[in-house]
Amino acid sequence: MATIQMLVGLLLLSDLVESVSRENFKTCNQSSFCKRHRRLRSDASPYVVLMETMQIQPSRIEVQILNTKNNVRLLMQVTAIKDNTARLKINELNPLRKRYEIPVGDVLVGEPKTQDMKVLVRSGSSISLGFEENKILITSRPFRVDFINKEEPVVSINAQGLLKFEHSRERNPPQNEGEEEPKEPPMENQADKKKKEGEKKGNEENDANEPETWEETFKDFHDSKPYGPSSVGVDVSFRGFKYVYGIPEHAESMALKTTKSGDPYRLFNLDVFGYELYNPMALYGSVPVMLAHNEKQTVGVFWHNAAESWVDISFNTVDKVADIVGRGRNERPQTNTHWISESGVIDVFIMMGPTAHDVFYQYAQLTGTTNLPPMFAISYHQCRWNYNDQGDVENVDANFDIYDIPYDVIWLDIDHADGKRYFTWDARKFSNPIEMVNNIASKGRKMVTIVDPHLKVDGNYRINKEAKDQGLYVKNKDGNDYEGWCWSETSSWPDFTNPKVRQWWASKFLFDDYKGSTADLFTWNDMNEPAVFNGPEITLHKDAKHMGGFENSDLHNIYGYYMQQATAEGQLLRSNNKDRPFVLTRAFFAGSQRWGAAWTGDNAAEWSHLKVSIPMLLSLSLVGITHSGADVGGFFNNPDPELLTRWYQAAAFQPFFRAHAHEFSKRREPYLQPKKNMQVIRDAIRARYSYLPLWYTLFYEGEQSGAPPMRPLWVEYPTDKRTFKMDDEYLIGTSLLVKPITEKGQTGTHVYFPGKDQLWYDIASYNSYKGGQSTYVEAPLSKIPVFQKGGSIIPRKMRIRRSSGLMKHDPFTLVVCLDKSGSATGSLYVDDYNSFNYRKGEHLLRSFSFQHNEFHSRSGDKFCSFSTKEWVEKIVIIGLSARPTKAILNVKGVESSLQLSYSSDNNQVIIRKPGVNIAKDFSIKLS
Ligand code: NOJ
Repeated sequence: MATIQMLVGLLLLSDLVESVSRENFKTCNQSSFCKRHRRLRSDASPYVVLMETMQIQPSRIEVQILNTKNNVRLLMQVTAIKDNTARLKINELNPLRKRYEIPVGDVLVGEPKTQDMKVLVRSGSSISLGFEENKILITSRPFRVDFINKEEPVVSINAQGLLKFEHSRERNPPQNEGEEEPKEPPMENQADKKKKEGEKKGNEENDANEPETWEETFKDFHDSKPYGPSSVGVDVSFRGFKYVYGIPEHAESMALKTTKSGDPYRLFNLDVFGYELYNPMALYGSVPVMLAHNEKQTVGVFWHNAAESWVDISFNTVDKVADIVGRGRNERPQTNTHWISESGVIDVFIMMGPTAHDVFYQYAQLTGTTNLPPMFAISYHQCRWNYNDQGDVENVDANFDIYDIPYDVIWLDIDHADGKRYFTWDARKFSNPIEMVNNIASKGRKMVTIVDPHLKVDGNYRINKEAKDQGLYVKNKDGNDYEGWCWSETSSWPDFTNPKVRQWWASKFLFDDYKGSTADLFTWNDMNEPAVFNGPEITLHKDAKHMGGFENSDLHNIYGYYMQQATAEGQLLRSNNKDRPFVLTRAFFAGSQRWGAAWTGDNAAEWSHLKVSIPMLLSLSLVGITHSGADVGGFFNNPDPELLTRWYQAAAFQPFFRAHAHEFSKRREPYLQPKKNMQVIRDAIRARYSYLPLWYTLFYEGEQSGAPPMRPLWVEYPTDKRTFKMDDEYLIGTSLLVKPITEKGQTGTHVYFPGKDQLWYDIASYNSYKGGQSTYVEAPLSKIPVFQKGGSIIPRKMRIRRSSGLMKHDPFTLVVCLDKSGSATGSLYVDDYNSFNYRKGEHLLRSFSFQHNEFHSRSGDKFCSFSTKEWVEKIVIIGLSARPTKAILNVKGVESSLQLSYSSDNNQVIIRKPGVNIAKDFSIKLS
């Protein structure tokens, strides 16, 4: 035991070490499958389509592909999916054992809805199919598939000839099995063949003879690999595209870089202490989704595979792939990517756009959207490792009130539980958790406790006993419960891939089961990559076994997804599906957005980490993980007051807003900061609260459409090339432009204002800026460079209280910033901010407009109704050309005159107290 404690202690100490221990994590060269795929040459593909095996169904083509080097046959299915999406799937025709596929209904919300295709042209060597404005062209030899949108090839698969599908096989096959002479000549001439003979490199199927394919060792860790090599990979070319984005999680710029001179981007959920910036190393979560954008179009690719994956990227200035639509080579740029997974099947969705919003919607149809979070979840969260006991919690809570700083949620880290036995309380520190939570809740606030997946192996720990007795744990290669070390010392891990285990886990959140929990207590799932301190790369052994005999190597990246799902389902269960859950996760996968929020893990109190948080959150936002944030202040070490202040200012305008700090860092709650900083931080948090109606409306819209609240500029200004790489500023919805200050001592910044004919208004001064240019803006410490778009109407709440819960019935202020023509539009979504009743139509969607000196509030959705006490307190109008003297309110034909005030300072007109309930239609005419 002493050794375990020492190890945990050492790991804790290593928390203070700032840079990553790279040697703990594999490079591509240390990963045999990555190495095998990466050395493929693009001119030696052995795969051909056997056109004579083609079966044509209305929405799907099925055809066999032959590996001419070993005669193994694959089955390819190409399917047309509703709303401009195509799917290409390749599996073995006759696998020796079932290859892992993520069950439908898990990541994919259901079987994707298909649509019919037309056969356009068919010959002995190719077939072209049409659906919507798309064509799919399958060519037999060399095998490739091209996806063409409105006559432009946009995505090609295997155009570089890098397909490699390691078929299932027995160990020590009889001589030549798997190495048969090709029945069909390979696609290369004899001279070439000779040259390559003896060369280890190439696309030879001799992998099975390599030592690392049947077992592999990394450092002292052995992977028994009982099934041998089973990796898959293929190239995906984005034709006409110079910029690609996505495939989080990496501490990287938003526009992805070439991987030519280093490792590919790695997708493998890992607990990385002190991660380094701007490199392709894997982090806690993985979303194998990439978007490509040019002035004309956005497309996306979703690689539906949960095994460890690597993605290579290279750029060509000219389209090297001969133009398949018959125009010869053209001058379009091209991004070549190469996707490699350790196991599973090739299952690629090609989302054809053509706009970014179309891609968001197409991806949402596949994997779902971020469920509308309860209002508290998008408010400010106060966390630290640890708030030590009830007194500590009480004190922090009281101080926020004393200093008049709003917050919604206080968080408890691992030491609240009895010896890190999750679902319990350390009774010496938390003798009456219910009373503690109720006290917090009496101010409209909530609490979160951490619940990690490592369960202490301890016969007296009920949760462990249940899991053990019911056989719910992940198994090791020998079939016994897998054991490893984590915070709770020797631990085992529930097999969340099993629906039964998820059901059991969900039941642990019932109020009777989780003693001390209440409806105001929510959950934080940490360490769910999962982190195993004494495991290979600090995670599970790859040959650990999950449900159905699948190995961790088959599905590693989805473990955290399932844990968050099970936890969210637990919260649904305890409230009988009435209240919306809130679960924060560190590990995630495609589709995790359906189960809650995610954060970027253990960052550091450094300016560079503040800066990189923006591209990291933009990358997450682009691939559906839209409720995401970074630890404010930086997790490791101690931010100086300036850094902390700037961090609050940035995060107040990011989707998930939580301060958090390592246990060895100094206390840094806002009220402990020097007075000036404290005031500025308070203003930033209060600004967040004032904009909650906007955030909430955007999250509602996001639930419907998949659009992320936090967006890169190019999403809204798709033809503006200057924005394609821009990741130091961003938009919230369409109406706020944010350029956080991320450098020490900086007191001003160049802001790029997009939109040529657009006006942008500083939210503090209402100074206006012209679009289509970059302008220097002063930003002393007290200033957050945030601008409202001319032409937008933003709903705000200006009476800031202790929590969003206490602001529930408060009135709205509508801020109207006019465009050059004197018009503006906006919307507001309202419901009870907490339950699922909105799905029964109990909500409001208001649509606002201002035109020809008249403001209108109308219902934006006739099929809903909701009664609320919220009303319109004030309308602020910026940018009127002439000063009005009269404002006449009209509600259902009844007119009354309203008070107006005017400030010549930026032509600000304030209409006071329209006093109309927000649910009602009304208009105001200015003259
Ligand atoms: C690691 C998490 O990333 C961090 O946020 C947390 O405070 C520690 N684990 C302790 O639970």
